[in-house]
Amino acid sequence: AKIHHHEFVIQATPVKRLCKTHNAITVNGQYPGPTLEINNGDTLVVKVTNKARYNVTIHWHGIRQFRTGWADGPEFVTQCPIRPGGSYTYRFTVQGQEGTLWWHAHSSWLRATVYGALIIRPKEGDSYPFTKPKRETPILLGEWWDANPIAVVRQATRTGAAPNVSDAYTINGQPGDLYNCSSKDTIIVPIDSGETNLLRVINAALNQPLFFKVANHKLTVVGADASYTKPFTTSVLMLGPGQTTDVLINGDQPPSRYYMAARAYQSAQNAPFDNTTTTAILEYKSAPCPSKKGLTIKPIMPTLPAFNDTATVTAFSRSFKSLNKVLVPTEIDESLFFTVGLGLNNCPKNFGSARCQGPNGTRFTASMNNVSFQFPKQISILQAYQQGIPGVVTPDFPANPPLKFDYTGNVSRSLFQPVAATKGYKLKYNSRVQVVLQDTSIVTPENHPIHLHGYDFYIVAEGFGNFDPKKDTSKFNLVDPPLRNTVAVPVNGWAVIRFVADNPGVWLMHCHLDVHITWGLAMVFLVDNGFGELQSIEPPPADLPLC
Ligand code: C2O
Repeated sequence: AKIHHHEFVIQATPVKRLCKTHNAITVNGQYPGPTLEINNGDTLVVKVTNKARYNVTIHWHGIRQFRTGWADGPEFVTQCPIRPGGSYTYRFTVQGQEGTLWWHAHSSWLRATVYGALIIRPKEGDSYPFTKPKRETPILLGEWWDANPIAVVRQATRTGAAPNVSDAYTINGQPGDLYNCSSKDTIIVPIDSGETNLLRVINAALNQPLFFKVANHKLTVVGADASYTKPFTTSVLMLGPGQTTDVLINGDQPPSRYYMAARAYQSAQNAPFDNTTTTAILEYKSAPCPSKKGLTIKPIMPTLPAFNDTATVTAFSRSFKSLNKVLVPTEIDESLFFTVGLGLNNCPKNFGSARCQGPNGTRFTASMNNVSFQFPKQISILQAYQQGIPGVVTPDFPANPPLKFDYTGNVSRSLFQPVAATKGYKLKYNSRVQVVLQDTSIVTPENHPIHLHGYDFYIVAEGFGNFDPKKDTSKFNLVDPPLRNTVAVPVNGWAVIRFVADNPGVWLMHCHLDVHITWGLAMVFLVDNGFGELQSIEPPPADLPLC
């Protein structure tokens, strides 16, 4: 196993998109940031130096961080932010994960431009469980704002209203040639007749589940979230923010140019559907030559599903199976039921209407089990938990919602007025955990991409309506369910996940739509800090940033 050393310098960099130049926050001047490539079993050592004027942290999305919780990255959860002028070195070893993950800023909305791919190839000497592709191409789906994303979220927080939506979706940082001023920078992905390209597709968008399709080509899914899946063939993918999907694409069509395109599944912000589409071009090397400057031959465009095509999403997500038989916990020690959804809080008396510009003079919030998560400001939760400092987090996050009702019906917002607090749920080391994640239709039903730090989990079932243990438990797949770190909870429905709490630490679980985490759709698991060698959280590294 190797040790890979990298330096990340966070800095403001002029970036030109959609006809305008902006100062975007980048890593090493690159947008998207550098791709990290390692093998399973390797160690990454990344020194992050902050030369920007914002606080920053970096999260290694999907990395288990087994006993290295101090390197996980969410600000005020496992560390205080790296202040302007400061630095911090993240150190961790990848154990047993292979495929595609990614890294991103975990501080305010900085991940809009601070993100990149993290590719984990098989252990040295091992090979893929599928025919080795001739090429591999990371495909990072993202969002671009003309405005400064930090200003966008600050404005929303100040007013209580929904934030402005982005101005473009992007593929590898480029909006593509359906947008203004973007055609000459459209990403070209090469392929040749008879060869296979492994596309490592990552949804790095802030607030938007996305469909992805390549004209006239089938995609064979072989992995997701750095776990191998039983191969299945599809014409379209759907990824919630945070999710990754590895697909093989064969050069089996007439040599030409084909669009690969992504566009919205649903609207994350209850905004009118934005039918803009981001494109890149799959180009056969033997295709007839277009002029180099402008594309004279229009590529073939795929037909993307409609923005509300949940049937396609359901068929796709139910196709995922782990490649091998897996060790799903069959007995459960902790059976939890968490609602996930939005809320609208009444305007507090001392607020003033300028700060309550949500629907009917309310403020947007979001919650799990009606708790709207508040990040502490003085110390990270992990530090407080490891050192036994009281008052930062209370271990009374409810195992069940405070109220049972028809979650998917036409629910009055007054039923659930989220209560702001920093609550965690304690898990004993090695306990077997099941969480039912139930969407609520308060304000609006949505497909919430729920991400758990520090673990992969099995998605044993998903469905629509209200989860019913009596009739739904029999549908659980305990043989070969997919192992993931982010589950797209069906709109107006539920998903059930299982994992074993074998990693001591403080682990955030949250909706990966950034606007929802801003509004409080998060909680933390506090996993045993006993005194056995395995239960105890290790002491922090010497350079851990303090508040
Ligand atoms: Cu990729 Cu806490 O997130």
